[in-house]
Amino acid sequence: YADPTFSAALIAWQKQHGRHTLPWQNTRDAYRVWLSEIMLQQTQVAAVLAYYARFLERFPTVADLAAAPVEDVMAQWSGLGYYTRARNLHKCAQRVVAEYGGVFPADPALLADLPGIGRSTAAAITAFSYGTRAAIMDGNVKRVFARVFGIDTFPGERRTEEAMWRRAEALLPEADIESYTQGLMDLGATLCTRSSPDCPRCPMQSRCVAYATGRVAELPVRKPK
Ligand code: ADE
Repeated sequence: YADPTFSAALIAWQKQHGRHTLPWQNTRDAYRVWLSEIMLQQTQVAAVLAYYARFLERFPTVADLAAAPVEDVMAQWSGLGYYTRARNLHKCAQRVVAEYGGVFPADPALLADLPGIGRSTAAAITAFSYGTRAAIMDGNVKRVFARVFGIDTFPGERRTEEAMWRRAEALLPEADIESYTQGLMDLGATLCTRSSPDCPRCPMQSRCVAYATGRVAELPVRKPK
């Protein structure tokens, strides 16, 4: 599955056409990156922007967040939804302060042991903050992979998901993991969308199995009944 031309094409596209001005980009502060990734887990970018700015004004560092009453954290989160995220956020901040002296670990396996941080979020945080080579796998990445590689089994199924993780690991570039990771996110969010994919602008068009076989609308396959 290793194919350096995949990451090279994605990185080149990200640098030219990807998003570069989101407020959590252009920082290597793991606290800021972590906060953005938790907010973006279940909420769209447009809705996150105002919350993200206000949250950082009220809690500028992980120590400020850890020391705050949980009620204050919930009040700042109010309106974003999925409130378990806010409780875990507070618990995670307290553990980062207590166990790591307020410095988020650069090892994705250690991060993934913290509340609210799964394998993919841990990889995104370490890639953006520390340049760690680690693979992400969310709904957007599953859709891109299902189409580019013509994977026609349900991505929610364990074997398919495991195969996608293996592919994601094998495709990681040697360098520029930040642009690569952001490129995967940007491709899925802006071009390779679920219901209106923009194949003419896609850097993967020439290698996309779904495009070549006229199955873009059918992939990824929906949950079997
Ligand atoms: N969704 C999850 N992480 C993101 C990021 N870093 N930028 C934009 N959208 C995202």
